[in-house]
Amino acid sequence: MATMISNFVRKTRTAFVLANETSRVLCLSNARTNSSFVGADAEGVNPQHPKILITGSLGQLGTGLAQVLRQKYGRNNVIMSDIIKPSQAVKESGPYLFADILEFKTLQEMIVTHDIDWIIHFSALLSAVGENNVPLAMRVNIEGLHNVLELARQYRLKLFVPSTIGAFGPDSPRNPTPDMCIQRPRTIYGVSKVHAELMGEYYYHKYGLDFRSLRFPGVISADTHAGGGTTDYAVAIFHEALKHGTFNCYLRPDTRMPMMYITDCLKSVAQFMEVPDSQMKLRTYNVTAMSFTPEELAEEVKKYVPNFTITYNPDGRQLIADSWPEVFDDQNARSDWGWNHEHDLQAMCKIIFNALMPLYK
Ligand SMILES: NC(=O)c1ccc[n+]([C@@H]2O[C@H](COP(=O)([O-])OP(=O)(O)OC[C@H]3O[C@@H](n4cnc5c(N)ncnc54)[C@H](O)[C@@H]3O)[C@@H](O)[C@H]2O)c1
Repeated sequence: MATMISNFVRKTRTAFVLANETSRVLCLSNARTNSSFVGADAEGVNPQHPKILITGSLGQLGTGLAQVLRQKYGRNNVIMSDIIKPSQAVKESGPYLFADILEFKTLQEMIVTHDIDWIIHFSALLSAVGENNVPLAMRVNIEGLHNVLELARQYRLKLFVPSTIGAFGPDSPRNPTPDMCIQRPRTIYGVSKVHAELMGEYYYHKYGLDFRSLRFPGVISADTHAGGGTTDYAVAIFHEALKHGTFNCYLRPDTRMPMMYITDCLKSVAQFMEVPDSQMKLRTYNVTAMSFTPEELAEEVKKYVPNFTITYNPDGRQLIADSWPEVFDDQNARSDWGWNHEHDLQAMCKIIFNALMPLYK
């Protein structure tokens, strides 16, 4: 309680919150004055040490991003949260809290108690998982987004919500897919991400919310297992190649999709969060690093596992992949704020095999 009061006074936010089980009526005056602490900007946020909350942080991207941001802004300034139990390593790495994205009051309390400045909103059900549980995907991906949007508006937080190649659909140009084009996705995941892009931009224009979004391609990592997306084959293939020398791919050999190594993905978020508003011509940008097919990836894998074989048995994910971009156009991110990837297919495979080979031996 003492911490809450001191945070309340320090930032001179005045909040009168009336909430009940069925409806939330919030009257909140964000009377943030220029902060009294040195180095703070007009919003009272110290740009050197923003306090950051990551939702859904125990997934493929969150744990790595927490490490990157903790190196930049300090261990205790980055709070990881999720609804699952953290590993011992996560517990020892810095603050971790339970937070269900559907519980508005829990999130609100965390923001006030921990004096949060930025939210990185990673909680989501990914494409393949979402198609198998549409009602839950609607709740987590849409209701959850509404909660963070409202909280970010009311407490004047900077908000990052990732989008995806899945925000495009069969009517979008697929090679290349620019930032601005028709978006009619056919998955609940894609629909929820278009909704997030539009709602974030609406809040930006209507309330001045500092909403930022990057559309990621398939993100590939060695050390974390992927969370049920359509591009997951490009993570699983390395483990299967080393464990069994063979891989049964759920996509056709010629299915081209944009991809990115996780280090580049995390770097893009860290860099993008610091881009001055004046440099941003869009609130949502495409970012990518490469595009390849399962067949091309298999050829690269064979350089490390010479007897590797791959079979192809397309399942429901093929339909999703067929409606997504083949090549992503991220020229705007590159020219507006200097986005640049470091890893191509060869560099990525080298890093991943170097990391995994000792483990499987
Ligand atoms: N990984 C990719 O290839 C990729 C590509 C494009 C966009 N993205 C986006 O990046 C974000 C993170 O992706 P990821 O791959 O780490 O996903 P993930 O599925 O690995 O992790 C998502 C996390 O959300 C958590 N979560 C689920 N329900 C929740 C709830 N009710 N409250 C709080 N947390 C909940 C899960 O426990 C999980 O840890 C997602 O928004 C995703 O759409 C990821």
